[in-house]
Amino acid sequence: MDEDDLDFFELESLRAGERVELIPDETLICECMCVSAKDIRKFFNNDPNVEVDLDLLKKEFGLGSGCSSCVKSFSQWKNKIF
Ligand code: FES
Repeated sequence: MDEDDLDFFELESLRAGERVELIPDETLICECMCVSAKDIRKFFNNDPNVEVDLDLLKKEFGLGSGCSSCVKSFSQWKNKIF
């Protein structure tokens, strides 16, 4: 993960020596399409160096095709997958 991808609070936590808290596997990222953090990790082959690509997730899982809250909150969860 690149420091440029972190928001202010995540960057401060990182500088303070704290880890960015990862989202638990079973948490639904997209409730409308029932897509969990584990589904997304599996889709990206559990590769911690991969960039979580929203367009790929939209295509694969239909993220955003319901209420769109998962898309609107993308910046809040994208760095907590890996
Ligand atoms: S939570 Fe993803 S479309 Fe509603």
